[in-house]
Amino acid sequence: QGQETKISFKTAEDAPKISKHIYGHFAEHLGRSIYDGFYVGDTSAIPNKDGVRIDIIEALKEIQIPNLRWPGGCFADTYQWKDGIGPQEDRPTMVNSWWGGVTEDNSFGTHNFLNLCEELGAEPFISANVGSGTVQDFMDWVQYTNHPEGSPMAKLRKENGRDEPWKVKYWGIGNEMWGCGGNMTVEYYANIYKQYSTFMTAGENKDNLYRIAAGASGDDYHWTEVLMKEVPKSLIEAVGLHHYAVIDWENKGPATGYDEEIYFKSMEEALKMDEFVKGHIEVMEKHDPKNEIDLVVDEWGGWYDVEEGTNPGFLYQQNTMRDAMIAGTTLNIFNNHSGRVKMANLAQTVNVLQAVALTEGEKMILTPTYHVFKMYTVHHDAQLLPVEFDSPEYTYNGESLPAISVSASKNETGNTNISLVNIDASAEHKVEIDLEGLDVNNIEAEILKSGKIQDHNTFDNPNKINIAEFKDFKLRKGKLEVSLPPFSVVVLSSK
Ligand code: AHR
Repeated sequence: QGQETKISFKTAEDAPKISKHIYGHFAEHLGRSIYDGFYVGDTSAIPNKDGVRIDIIEALKEIQIPNLRWPGGCFADTYQWKDGIGPQEDRPTMVNSWWGGVTEDNSFGTHNFLNLCEELGAEPFISANVGSGTVQDFMDWVQYTNHPEGSPMAKLRKENGRDEPWKVKYWGIGNEMWGCGGNMTVEYYANIYKQYSTFMTAGENKDNLYRIAAGASGDDYHWTEVLMKEVPKSLIEAVGLHHYAVIDWENKGPATGYDEEIYFKSMEEALKMDEFVKGHIEVMEKHDPKNEIDLVVDEWGGWYDVEEGTNPGFLYQQNTMRDAMIAGTTLNIFNNHSGRVKMANLAQTVNVLQAVALTEGEKMILTPTYHVFKMYTVHHDAQLLPVEFDSPEYTYNGESLPAISVSASKNETGNTNISLVNIDASAEHKVEIDLEGLDVNNIEAEILKSGKIQDHNTFDNPNKINIAEFKDFKLRKGKLEVSLPPFSVVVLSSK
C-alpha cells in the first residue's frame, strides 16, 4: 500500500513456451455437467448442434479451449465405453455410483465427445477406466478412436457412422488411484500403470500417444517419486497432480455468502498450488533431469458447499470474484512453471465446481472464472518471460499471503503480455514494471473487478461482472506503473 512493488523480467532465450494446454478444461459425467450442461439432446428446443448446446460451444470457442478431459474424474474408473456407442436406444444404462447414484443412460458417449472436441477445435483428453475396466477394454478404446482401418475396432467405428479415426493423443491411465480409482498404493499402481501403458501402444508408442499417469493429491511427493522411479520413460509422457482449494472437506463453506476469513483461507489453499507444483517438479527433476516427462495438473479449482436445494452429489456451486482470484493466481503459477507444467484442467467446465459457465433451462451465464480464461488467452503458446519480484503482503487477522501474482509472456509477433492479480480484499497495490529491452510502446489493458468480493453473475443479472477496459497505468521511460484495485485481475498487452 502506498509503496510501489518493483517487477522485472528476465528475457532468457531458453525460456519455455507456455503450452496452451495449461488452459484446458474438464467435463465429467457428474450432476448437470454433461446432461443439461453440454448435452440437451438433438430434439431439445434449446439451440444445439448434434445435441450439444450452441451457447456453450460458442463460449468455449471464444476462450480457445485447447483440450477437454472426459469422462471423469471418479466416474472414469466406472465407465464402460462400449455401452456408449451404437444406436442410443440400445445403449445399456448404469448407476453413476460416485455422483448421486443417478442412472446414466449412456446417451452421450465416445462419438458425441470426440465430435464435440472437433467442433470446438480442442484436443480430446480421455481419462480411461483402470479401476474397474480391463486392459482389453482400454486397448480396444484406443483402437476404436485411432485405427484407420483393418482392425475389428476400426470396423465397428465405421459401422457406427464414423469413417476416419479421431486420432486421440491424450490418455489418462485411470484417475485418483489413491482414492476413487481403487484405493491403491502407488507401488501397486506403478505396475498396473506399466501394464496398461504397454498394451495400449502394443509395446511401441508408434502413434506418439501422450500417456498421463494418475497423479498425486497435493503434497504427496512419494506418489510422484515412485512413479518416476518405477516407470520407464518409454511408457510415460506425463504425471498428473490434483489440488483443490478447499478450506475444510467437512465444512467447505458457501460459494457466495462467505466472509473475509473464509476468503483468506480459500486463497491460502489455492496458493499452495505453487508449493505443490515446485515440490513435484523437484522430485521429477531428480529422476528426469532432461525434462522428458511433463507435469499435468488435470484437476484444480475452488470447491465449496453446493447451492441450497441442489443435489449434494451434483457439486453445483456459484462462482464469485474469489474464483476469479483463484483462476488468475493459479494460471500465473502454471505459466511460471511452464518448463514442466505442460497441461492443466480446471474442474469443471459447466455446472460443476469452479465452472466457466452455468445453465438454467435455455439460459446460460458466464462466470468470473470464464472471463479470466478469456483475458489470459494472450499467453497461449507464447514464450514465458520469467518474473522477478517480491510481493507486498495481504494481511488478515495477523496472517499474510502474497497480495500480488504475476506472469508474463511474449508472443510470436513480439507482443508482451502481463497478467497481474491483486488478491487483497481491501487494499489497492501499485506496481512498477521494468520493461527495458522489451520494445514496448503502446499498451492496452483489461480488468476484471467488482464492488464486493462475493459478487457474481446471475441468470437475472448475467453481466454484473465482465471484462472492462483498464486505464490506470502509465508508461514512462520503459517503466510501467500500474495501480491494481483490490481483488482485481489485470492483463496488459503491448500492441
Ligand atoms: O472433480 C470432482 C472429483 O474430484 C473428481 O471426480 C475426482 O477426480 C476428484 O476427487
